[in-house]
Amino acid sequence: MFRNRSSEQCNITIFVDDKPVAAHEGDLIATTLLNNGIVAVHPAPGGAARGPYCLMGVCFDCLIRCEDGRTEQACQIYAKDGMKIYLPLTDQSEKDVRE
Ligand code: FES
Repeated sequence: MFRNRSSEQCNITIFVDDKPVAAHEGDLIATTLLNNGIVAVHPAPGGAARGPYCLMGVCFDCLIRCEDGRTEQACQIYAKDGMKIYLPLTDQSEKDVRE
């Protein structure tokens, strides 16, 4: 079961779609997103919003785009201070690529 961490325990900042988000160093990106109320990260083929679900690399509902353009599972990478990630659901540049 996922439990929110207190924001007082956060000791780093990551950037989600260029907005600062409090995180705890070593936490998964997926849990950092959930801890900050970000539950929808990318669109499914039918357009429905998907977000972290299994937290163990099985469902692929947590796909995000990294600063270098790679697509990664948010539940398989750890938060590091200053890292930037983009949510395909809200990422305009990704939408431009699809069109
Ligand atoms: S949450 Fe299921 S693969 Fe990441």
